[in-house]
Amino acid sequence: MIRFICTKDYDDMSRKAANIIGAQIVAKPDSVLGLATGSTPIGAYARLVEGYEQGDLDFSRVTSVNLDEYRGLPHDNDQSYYYFMNYHLFSKVNIDVNNTYVPDGMIADADEACKKYDEIVKNTGGVDLQLLGMGHNGHIGFNEPSDVFVKGTNCVNLTQSTIDANARFFASKEDVPTQAYTMGIQTIMNAKKILVVVNGEGKADIVKKAFFGDITPQVPASILQLHPDVIVVGDEAAFSQIKDMI
Ligand code: F6R
Repeated sequence: MIRFICTKDYDDMSRKAANIIGAQIVAKPDSVLGLATGSTPIGAYARLVEGYEQGDLDFSRVTSVNLDEYRGLPHDNDQSYYYFMNYHLFSKVNIDVNNTYVPDGMIADADEACKKYDEIVKNTGGVDLQLLGMGHNGHIGFNEPSDVFVKGTNCVNLTQSTIDANARFFASKEDVPTQAYTMGIQTIMNAKKILVVVNGEGKADIVKKAFFGDITPQVPASILQLHPDVIVVGDEAAFSQIKDMI
């Protein structure tokens, strides 16, 4: 089941998303959070940091598993997703870094890297709340449009549209890695609850396709229609094409 929360703008979306994540931590202090990178959740992470600073949130017993990482980027590369998480959240709250997991982009053997990450996720006991952004092509994690839904952690070739979208973070388009390790669709779907954040007019088209269109691996996020507990928090612009349907 999917519930939609329409918010005024990016700040409003970030606050409401952070409230949902914060409520999860308060209700279950040893929650396993599935976390995402990208530009959309940055505001929510900032709100969570505020919640910690104000003494409302305690991350000391939280475990986190991130969705994905570029293949070939070490943790200290400022474009790696590990670096992103450390910068926006881990270094700013009292989470135990030993309980934070991001796929290891430096394991060259893709099978080994994927198997290892599946084990890690399994050993957490299961994700309580999975935060997701969504790509313009409907990707979740880095599960790109494809003929099948890939179940477990996998090594993906990023599509040109994803490389183009991510180029804004790199010195040049040539510097954007072409492969990534990503949690699979089944792993994402195994989360007890899923929170999707989307903002901006640019996402309006894919929001409609993903949540009201056919369920197809060509729009990976469309599988979320089959999950029992999904909340999509989006701003008015991202919801502009579904406002009469929600
Ligand atoms: C990031 C991730 C991606 C992003 C998606 C949207 O960990 O898994 O699926 O959520 O590319 O990115 P933004 O938020 O930058 O539009």
